[in-house]
Amino acid sequence: MDPSVFSVLILSAYGIYFMLPAYLANASALTFGGGTPLDMGRSLKDGRRLLGDGVTWRGTIIGILIGVAIGLLQGITGPAVYDLLMIGDPLIGNMIQGTITFTALQGTLLGLALGSGAIIGDACGSFIKRRFNVERGRPVPLMDQLDFVVGALILASLVVSIPLNLIIVIVIITLFLHLGANIIAYLLGMKNVWY
Ligand code: CTP
Ligand code: MG
Repeated sequence: MDPSVFSVLILSAYGIYFMLPAYLANASALTFGGGTPLDMGRSLKDGRRLLGDGVTWRGTIIGILIGVAIGLLQGITGPAVYDLLMIGDPLIGNMIQGTITFTALQGTLLGLALGSGAIIGDACGSFIKRRFNVERGRPVPLMDQLDFVVGALILASLVVSIPLNLIIVIVIITLFLHLGANIIAYLLGMKNVWY
């Protein structure tokens, strides 16, 4: 295999691994969320809801807890992941080593940043949608897919230093993962539209 293709594959796989606390925070908010909305039903002066019924206490709390739990596991397994990367592709290993956590405490902190960042980013997306009078659940392409990524990466960059090419790879992969997940949900009859 062409070494540069191999490097892109490794970087992509690592991008998914790095973002697992954010992805799983988002997915568990969606799966286990519901009930009392975070904004408690309040509206702003524009007459629109602050966040809407799609942002709930249960989804928020469970999402952040899952992010923390995944981060803890990643902190514990971090040294082994780093060794594997250095064997597989030392250039990539060197490039992203500042984003790997090597202890349970570091991992938990990064998981908290990625998980809460994902949830906050998603809530900011809902806030913006409401201000533009977009109803809860109505699609806004790109923002719906990337709001949680932006939030997660901003908070994560307070904990670790993330190189630009990892950010680019994560944004592209997230768009594909999102589309893939929606197509599967559509085929399973869980969604009415494939996108
Ligand atoms: N969810 C939740 N709590 C959160 C985030 C998400 O309970 N903090 C759940 C809600 O049940 C929500 C679903 O996950 O309906 C999907 O989230 P999202 O697509 O962000 O919300 P939408 O319902 O599409 O609403 P919005 O228009 O505000 O994005
Ligand atoms: Mg939505």
